[in-house]
Amino acid sequence: MTDTISTTFPGPTVPGPGEAGATPRPRPAAQQPDWPDRPVLRAVTEELAALPGLVLAEECDRLTDRLAAVARGEAVLLQGGDCAETFDGVTEEHVRGIFGTLAEMRALIAEGARLPVVQVGRIAGQYAKPRSSPWETRNGETLPAYRGDLVNGLAFTSRSRTPDAGRLRLGYRVSATTLNLLRALAARRDGEFWTSHEALVLEYERALTRETPSGVYDLSAHLVWVGERTRQPDGAHLDFVAGIRNPVAVKLGPTTTADEALTMVDQLDPDRTPGRLTFISRMGADAVRDRLPELVSKVEASGARVVWMCDPMHGNTFVMPSGYKTRDLDRVMDEVRGFFEVHAGLGTHPGGLHVEMTGEPVTECLGGTPPVTPDDVPIRYETACDPRLNRRQSLDLARVLAELYTEQPPCRR
Ligand code: PEP
Ligand code: CO
Repeated sequence: MTDTISTTFPGPTVPGPGEAGATPRPRPAAQQPDWPDRPVLRAVTEELAALPGLVLAEECDRLTDRLAAVARGEAVLLQGGDCAETFDGVTEEHVRGIFGTLAEMRALIAEGARLPVVQVGRIAGQYAKPRSSPWETRNGETLPAYRGDLVNGLAFTSRSRTPDAGRLRLGYRVSATTLNLLRALAARRDGEFWTSHEALVLEYERALTRETPSGVYDLSAHLVWVGERTRQPDGAHLDFVAGIRNPVAVKLGPTTTADEALTMVDQLDPDRTPGRLTFISRMGADAVRDRLPELVSKVEASGARVVWMCDPMHGNTFVMPSGYKTRDLDRVMDEVRGFFEVHAGLGTHPGGLHVEMTGEPVTECLGGTPPVTPDDVPIRYETACDPRLNRRQSLDLARVLAELYTEQPPCRR
């Protein structure tokens, strides 16, 4: 985990377990923007705090119920969307593309697994990115790295790269626009669709956190997750999600130890509520067979009923000689196979798939039918951050998943 910019965040909004009455202690928050204008930040977060949440607490509870079925081996979770949504990228075509492609993937997986599939988009709020370096240098000029549209602009100019708290307001509005369309699309199909994003910029997440009659919820999305770079045991991100009642997830990379995973279980799911906690394994095709078994077996032994899902994207990214960041669908599929092998070996349920994808025919990842070749990559390389599977590649992957579920009947518990 790389801890780049780190500010100190005040302690939990609500006391953590066993902390009732305790004075909140400051916790370091990794990957936070260095907002130059604190008064603007304060004004914008106060404004957001007075606006309605984007989702309802009872919807979050219903998603927890759906995820409990996944945790029991009675359903499958499919989570997908852009690595980084952009404000300009929210067009009807783009949102329909993701919604429609996820629906096609869902149908394939549901048929193979003969189980219901819970559909969650990385959408309507996926606007903030952790970065491995806080700086980017081009042609001798160094500027702050792009941290997602919620924070600064992708254009490589000093003005665009300066964090602007006014963007938090825009993030809320564009999320609401996206959600409006998603709700209409889901209603037309008489189906359920849930939203999620990485809970990264804590000022934004806190501004949309509400005390409701059933407890404290982050109403910016149904589910939020903590990323690989911000899951420090004593850090502000895990502390934040410990204090909300939404279903939450944490990414687990290849350096995760079983003790770290067990500490997260105790912190985030002290009552062992199925559906409350999802672990998103993103080990890489080379590491998954080696690293995942110990985590799964020890977490299962703790009595927790978490959802285990596979993100076969983030451990398999590489830079081609041409300079483009890409992923090869064969490696992605190999990680998914490894993930299923691990669960088959332990008798646990492979809960689902987390992917970066889009409905459009982009050429950001290699492989598929017909294959995207290294020469094709520059043709439609449009992502603001990591390379996404296009629709065909997403369906190829969903077919592999369907086959794996058919071969390996889910284990109920
Ligand atoms: C992401 O999901 O885009 C991401 C940054 O993932 P991770 O935290 O697993 O690296
Ligand atoms: Co990504």
